[in-house]
Amino acid sequence: MAIDLVRAEHIYKAFSGVAALEDVAFDLKPGEVHALLGENGAGKSTLMKIISGVYTRDSGDLYINGNKIAHDLNPQQAQSLGIGIIHQELNLCPHLTIAENIFLNREFTVSGFLNSKKQNEESKKYLKTLNLDIEPNIRVSELPVSKQQMVEICKTLSMNANIIIMDEPTSALTEKEIEDLFKVIGLLKKDGKGIIYISHRLEELSRIVDRVTVLRDGRYVKTLQFAETNLNEIISLMVGRTLTEKFPRIEVSRGERVLEVKDFSSPAGVGVKKVSFNLYKGEILAFAGLMGAGRTELVRAVSGADKSTEGEIRLNGKSVKIHNPADAIRQGVFCVPEDRKKDGLCVKMTLAENITMPSLDIISKWGVILRHLESKKTNEMVRNLKIKTPSIEQYVRNLSGGNQQKVVVGKWLMRNAQVVIFDEPTRGIDVASKIEIYNIINELKRNGIGVMIVSSELPEVLGMSDRVIVMCNGRITAELNTLQTNQEEILHYATQYT
Ligand SMILES: Nc1ncnc2c1ncn2[C@@H]1O[C@H](COP(=O)(O)OP(=O)(O)OP(=O)(O)O)[C@@H](O)[C@H]1O
Ligand SMILES: [Mg+2]
Repeated sequence: MAIDLVRAEHIYKAFSGVAALEDVAFDLKPGEVHALLGENGAGKSTLMKIISGVYTRDSGDLYINGNKIAHDLNPQQAQSLGIGIIHQELNLCPHLTIAENIFLNREFTVSGFLNSKKQNEESKKYLKTLNLDIEPNIRVSELPVSKQQMVEICKTLSMNANIIIMDEPTSALTEKEIEDLFKVIGLLKKDGKGIIYISHRLEELSRIVDRVTVLRDGRYVKTLQFAETNLNEIISLMVGRTLTEKFPRIEVSRGERVLEVKDFSSPAGVGVKKVSFNLYKGEILAFAGLMGAGRTELVRAVSGADKSTEGEIRLNGKSVKIHNPADAIRQGVFCVPEDRKKDGLCVKMTLAENITMPSLDIISKWGVILRHLESKKTNEMVRNLKIKTPSIEQYVRNLSGGNQQKVVVGKWLMRNAQVVIFDEPTRGIDVASKIEIYNIINELKRNGIGVMIVSSELPEVLGMSDRVIVMCNGRITAELNTLQTNQEEILHYATQYT
C-alpha cells in the first residue's frame, strides 16, 4: 500500500473563539483526485490553509508523505514538502507580468540579474500545457478573470508539487478552459500526484473525482468513493437535508418597460457593438453566452463602470445619462459585479461597513453615521441572506467566499432599486445558498424590479429567467423566451460569430 500523501486527524481550529473546524479528518492518496465538499463556511478553505501552512491548527495531527508535521508549519516549508495550493481568491500581483507572477520569489537570475528571457520561455511552457496562447510578458491586470485564474494554476504547476490543492479552480473558467484544466489533472494523476479538489459545481465532479469527503459546519461528515454515491446523496450530506427544488421559479406578470437600451456600444474589453434590448418590471432577463461574449462589458457600461459608451439608455421612458457608477446608483441601477474582491468589496473593512457603504444617506443624519441604525439594517440583511458570521463587526476578508458574495448582494438590497444587474450571482455559492440567492432575486422580481442576470451556467439561465438574450462577440445573436428554448439552442446562438 502506498503511503498517504496527506493524512490529517482530529484537526481543530477556532477563530476568536469560534470553531471553524472540529475533529476533522482527511487523507489523500497518490494518483487520486479527492474532492472536499461542503456548504459555504463549512471549513474547506480553512482545512486547506492548515495543510499548506497558511494557518496553524489549534490541535490535531498532520502527516505529509508519511512524516509527522510539526505544529508550526509555514507556507515555505509546506511548499518544500511538495504542497502547492491554488487559492480560492486570486492572489496575483496585477501590475506584474504573467511570467513575473508565475516565478514571483523564484526569479530566474544570472549572477544576480533577472533573466527575463528565460523566465518568459519557462512561463510559456506552462501556459502551453494549459493550452493558453498568451504572451508571458502581458501584465496580469490586462487579463480577464478567467485567464488570471489560469495563470494562478500555471504558477502552482510550475512549482512541481506532488500534492496540489485546488480551491474552486473552475468558478471563473470558460468551458474550454475547464476542459484543458481537466486534461492536465488527468496527466497529474497518471504521474502519481494527488489533487485535493474543492468546487461548488457538483456536476463537474463526475469528470475527474475518485473520492469525496463532506464537511458540514466545521465537522467531518463522511468520505465516499465517488463511483458508489450520487449527487443527491452528496447534497443531502452537505446540507443535512434533502433539497427538492433547485430553481424556485415564480410567476409574476410582467409590468411596464423599465429600461430601454438602444444602439449601445462600448469600446472596453472585448467591446459591445450596437446592442439594443428592453427590460420590464418584474422580469428576470438573462444574458447567456460564452466567456468573452461581451456580457460583462455590457453590464459594466450600462451601470456606469466603463466610459466612452455610445447609444441611448432610457429609464422609465426618460433618457438618462450614466457616466459613472454614482449616476447609476442615483438612477436606481445597481450592479453586483463579477469580480467581488476587486469591484464589489472592501475586504479590510467590516461586514457592516461594506453592506451600508452605498446607503450612508439612509443610516446617517447631519453627516453622522448612526451606529444603531447601521447595526439594525445590517443585522436585518444578515438574517435575510443567512450570512454566516460571528458578528457584523467581522472583517469581510475573514468571511468564507460564498458569504462574501452574499455581502455584495446585500449592499444593493438596502436601496430602492429600479434595475438590479447580477454578473454571475452564484459563482462560488453552495447548492443551498444558491437557492437563497434565487429567493432574493425572486423577491426583487415580486417587487416589480427589473432584474438582469449574466450567467454562464445554463441550468441557472433556464431555471430562473423569463427571457434570454444570447451574445457572441459583443453582439446580440438571439432573444429567446426561456420556457420555449433549451441548452442546445442557446449554445447554437452563443457560437454564432459574425
Ligand atoms: N481568518 C479568519 N478569521 C476569522 N474567521 C475565519 C477566518 N478564516 C475563516 N474563518 C471562518 O471559518 C469558517 C470556515 O470558513 P472557510 O473559508 O474555511 O469556509 P469554506 O468551506 O471554504 O466556504 P466557501 O465555500 O464559502 O469558500 C467561516 O465561518 C469563516 O468565517
Ligand atoms: Mg472556501
